[in-house]
Amino acid sequence: MPSMKVAIAGGTGAVGVPTIQELLAVEYSVTVLSRTGSKSSSKLPQHTNLNVVEVDYESITSLTDALRDHTVVIACFGVAAPVGSQDALIDASIAAGVTRYFPAEFGTDTENPKCKEFPIFANKIHALDYLKQKVAVYPSFSYTALCLGSLFDWGLEVGFLIDPKKHRATIYDGGERLYSTTTLATVSKAVVSIIGHLEETKNRHVYIQDALVSQNKLIAVVQKLDGKDWECTYTTCSAAKARAYAELQKENPGIRKGLFPLLHISVLGEGYGGDFSRHLDNKLLGIKGMDDNDVENLIKKYL
Ligand SMILES: NC(=O)c1ccc[n+]([C@@H]2O[C@H](COP(=O)([O-])OP(=O)(O)OC[C@H]3O[C@@H](n4cnc5c(N)ncnc54)[C@H](OP(=O)(O)O)[C@@H]3O)[C@@H](O)[C@H]2O)c1
Repeated sequence: MPSMKVAIAGGTGAVGVPTIQELLAVEYSVTVLSRTGSKSSSKLPQHTNLNVVEVDYESITSLTDALRDHTVVIACFGVAAPVGSQDALIDASIAAGVTRYFPAEFGTDTENPKCKEFPIFANKIHALDYLKQKVAVYPSFSYTALCLGSLFDWGLEVGFLIDPKKHRATIYDGGERLYSTTTLATVSKAVVSIIGHLEETKNRHVYIQDALVSQNKLIAVVQKLDGKDWECTYTTCSAAKARAYAELQKENPGIRKGLFPLLHISVLGEGYGGDFSRHLDNKLLGIKGMDDNDVENLIKKYL
């Protein structure tokens, strides 16, 4: 049984829950940090190696107490409530003697200069800059930013990039551009594998994918499976970006009009680095990837 303890902050969301299940399956002790008063822990499995600790994310003392004896901290704050500052959690991780910190990434390439410009990623970029400063000062502390592109099964469920249930999509720049996509099961396995390869994954972005797809390719798979017509809207990334920026100026911007189009562009816009296939860490982490049959079988589940 692995002796190290892993803490997950915001572990009750889309990425956190399967990651916790995978960590428990390989017998890590897992601590979930949850906001004081949150009711989200009902989403977690019952397990003797799983503890939930309520924390005040503003208090470095509260966080440090919760993180004592932990080797790894994984930040899994969400998209819907945009990722807030991770400074206190990073400071507490260092104070508690944590070895590896996973910032709340799990998406597109935040090393890419065009992605870095998007306001929706400002907090992620801030956290990365903060981590880079800290690892230079504290050599026993380190980070890994896990980039997986677009979440494949999550996206099929919520209709991100294509909506197979409603047979609807907004097609960007003709729909042929290839992008990396990864299932939640692979993400959780990658996290466990990174913890098993701490030295090789130290202080850098790590890139994984299950498949390289395009919007047109996925729609063609759905059409082959069910033969139904699609209702597609066609746009360009530059027009969609202008509309999304205008939406984000509003007092209460809509998630689907402001946030989602910029996320889409960060996945498949030209020059945003959404095709990871030339610099993957799949081999290091033991990720096999999906072939066309696997892709078809996954999509079948979402029709
Ligand atoms: N690549 C993709 O396609 C994709 C898709 C989805 C997400 N992601 C990424 O994956 C990561 C996790 O996202 P997610 O969707 O799994 O998260 P989520 O479900 O939105 O949130 C996860 C948890 O964070 C906690 N939380 C919510 N608001 C908070 C706040 N203001 N401060 C502190 N904690 C808060 C909640 O836990 P408690 O109630 O227990 O405190 C919540 O259950 C993010 O970095 C996101 O960008 C990527």
